[in-house]
Amino acid sequence: MSIISTDLSKAIELLNNEELVAIPTETVYGLAGNIFSEKAVKAIFETKERPFFNPLIVHIPNIEYLETIVEAIPEKAKLLAEAFWPGPITLVLKKKSIIPDLITGGKDTVAVRIPNHPTTLELLNQLDFPLAAPSANPFNRISPTKAEHVENYFKDKIQMVLDGGACKSGIESTIIGFENGEPIIYRLGSTSVEAIEAVVGTIEVKNSSAEHGRSQKEAAPEAPGMLERHYAPKTKTILTTNIAEAIETYKDLKIGLLTYNDILNDDAIAYKIVLSEGKNLEEAASKLYDALHQLDQQQLDIIIAEQLPDYGLGKSINDRLQRATK
Ligand code: TXA
Ligand code: MG
Repeated sequence: MSIISTDLSKAIELLNNEELVAIPTETVYGLAGNIFSEKAVKAIFETKERPFFNPLIVHIPNIEYLETIVEAIPEKAKLLAEAFWPGPITLVLKKKSIIPDLITGGKDTVAVRIPNHPTTLELLNQLDFPLAAPSANPFNRISPTKAEHVENYFKDKIQMVLDGGACKSGIESTIIGFENGEPIIYRLGSTSVEAIEAVVGTIEVKNSSAEHGRSQKEAAPEAPGMLERHYAPKTKTILTTNIAEAIETYKDLKIGLLTYNDILNDDAIAYKIVLSEGKNLEEAASKLYDALHQLDQQQLDIIIAEQLPDYGLGKSINDRLQRATK
């Protein structure tokens, strides 16, 4: 029997009983549990096989709730919250002691956002507690943007995926931390750098542990989840600016192709997905993970992915594709 359901009251009952429910958001599906239940939060880490040092995002119903869980909020954090919530921005702020250490991996900050999905906003409004929810995929695998993706991963491990259709934005929220009151991007995501800069001015991007010259094993990066390899298909994947050359190089293999808008036909290609024939970066972002899920199911030898333009959401998509190739 399918675990996918639209039954909101069943989701509420399960969450009140400290069970997990996968929930839809505008970015990706999350694997949600009561932040105050040690049982639920431990189950999130165990189900995902995620290391405990990698902290979770707390999902709240409204801006007013922020004061319950975080200390003094920097002025620019307020501006960003007002501009983008509900929506795909996560703010990393100084936590109050009410937030369990298990949520934050022992850090004194907590990551928080208000998701922009009607079903999940309704759910959050009906619960007495916020929801901890990492993306609903096993650690390091491709994030889910459809209820079926979650079901394929976790049908034996959780009781319910709350169905909210395909995620509109399709890549994770942009994570922003604060150093001396100034915002810094810790993870590129569904809100573009340009949109953020329009609200708070020029912003530094410290997107990856690799960019900091640290290896994965060294000191914790700002967002510990930003490992070099992440969002990865099982099939070997390469990223290129020159698809024709890559196809020629790998022509003896069974090739899957992921392009931005190039509808090129070539006998060497066994399976092909075009992200946006009209060159629309929002459309490409919304289709990205589903495309990777599909390609990964075709028993290919290699996935050749084309690099997108390096602006707007193109930057965020390229970031995910890069991590998929590691
Ligand atoms: O769009 C999203 O953000 C989705 C949906 C479900 O809301 N959630 C998501 O969660 O992507 P997850 O757990 O897959 O990624 C959370 C990221 C991790 O890289 C984690 O290290 C970082 O947030 N993070 C969480 N708490 C943090 C903190 N206190 N300081 C720095 N980074 C933090
Ligand atoms: Mg994730």
